Amino acid sequence: MLSLRTRLIVIFIITLIISWVMGLAFSAVTGWMSAVICLAILLVHQLWHASKLTQLLLSPSYGEVPGALGIWGEIYYRLHKLVKGWRDQVVEVEQQHQRFIEAIQASPNGVVMLNEDDQIEWCNAIAGKHFGINPRRDAMQRITHILRKPAFVQYIVRQNYREPVKLTGMGDFEQFSLEVQIFPYGDKQKLVLSQDISQIEKSDAMRRDFVANVSHELKTPLTVLAGFLETVRELDLNQDDRDKYLEMMSVQTGRMKTLVEDLLTLAKLEGNPEPPVSQVVNMPNMLSRLKLDAEGLSQGQHQINFQSQTDKNILGDDMELYSAFGNLVSNAVRYTPEGGKIDILWQETKDGIQLCVSDTGPGIAAEHIPRLTERFYRVDRSRSRETGGTGLGMAIVKHVINRHHGELKIESTVGLGSRFYLLFPKQRIA
Ligand SMILES: Nc1ncnc2c1ncn2[C@@H]1O[C@H](COP(=O)(O)OP(=O)(O)OP(=O)(O)O)[C@@H](O)[C@H]1O
Ligand SMILES: [Mg+2]
Repeated sequence: MLSLRTRLIVIFIITLIISWVMGLAFSAVTGWMSAVICLAILLVHQLWHASKLTQLLLSPSYGEVPGALGIWGEIYYRLHKLVKGWRDQVVEVEQQHQRFIEAIQASPNGVVMLNEDDQIEWCNAIAGKHFGINPRRDAMQRITHILRKPAFVQYIVRQNYREPVKLTGMGDFEQFSLEVQIFPYGDKQKLVLSQDISQIEKSDAMRRDFVANVSHELKTPLTVLAGFLETVRELDLNQDDRDKYLEMMSVQTGRMKTLVEDLLTLAKLEGNPEPPVSQVVNMPNMLSRLKLDAEGLSQGQHQINFQSQTDKNILGDDMELYSAFGNLVSNAVRYTPEGGKIDILWQETKDGIQLCVSDTGPGIAAEHIPRLTERFYRVDRSRSRETGGTGLGMAIVKHVINRHHGELKIESTVGLGSRFYLLFPKQRIA
């Protein structure tokens, strides 16, 4: 393939040869005329393609590159290759940009890009939700015009971005608690990152409540105990009174012991891996243990009836199930007044196998039922305390049944009684 320059020289030499031959064949004037005509044709050809090329370069989109013979064909071909290379590069950069945007959109954190005047250049969808920004409507708006929380305005004005700032009540429904931090970058631009910490705040609040509840629950028996100790030490009591006080002190220490035991059980349930599905729980044995406990607790004050409609056992953890079943049975006994009836039924259903504990006690109002499994939740605090309850029993039941992939169902009518079901799925039947 000849180079462009060589081709030009060849064309020029051919023109000279044609003119020379014409000059020899006819006359010198014809020769000169031929040379002028050839050069004129060449010039027009060059000018026509030059103007076409100018048009092509001026058009906003490099459309199809025209085909041509000779030098111009070569030029167009090279131009075409160049344009194609650029186009491929642009497509690749666009794809990279798109992937980058998609990655930022997929981030669980909000991202807002600000220019040097703190105007919003871009934000992802999460930031839109966190700050109530509409990416189209609010583009190039100052962020402080949209995010007017004083804590944030002060944060941005102070220009000390080493620590994040906490903003509460954010979002359209004030549902977010956010941790927001600014990172300066580039030429005085800023990146605003927001993280939803609502869940962390919630568990922090739960932890604080829990500690407060535990302290409160321990404080009451401790205060009573301290009072009795004082009495026993200060007063000159006879043996009967002394025994009475010691008995009351032992009740209080018993309460504290139960509370600590329940707390340890809950901690174990939360921290340990799920119980194995290979362990068979002997239900006849479990039911007879529960029966003994119920009768011991009732002291003959209730009519207690245990019934087993199936001889099937379940797979799970014996200790955990004993504490869950035991709590339902002890609740039934403790909350049902004297003379009441308590039925404990072990039966197979179409969905699995279940333990049903029903009583003719006071019943539970509908608004309390969803909250029964909260730690320390008691419908009637004084009644529960009277019977030695800590309010952790149903929380333990809920944990145990969840760990066995079962379900807790509560039905109750105030004044008539309650019915608690612990339903285990078919896979748990041994
Ligand atoms: N069978 C029932 N009849 C009426 N109320 C009940 C019954 N079972 C539970 N409750 C109510 O639900 C509350 C929560 O029960 P839960 O077993 O969690 O706590 P508790 O029995 O008070 O204490 P704990 O079980 O830790 O000794 C009880 O305080 C009581 O008000
Ligand atoms: Mg209980």
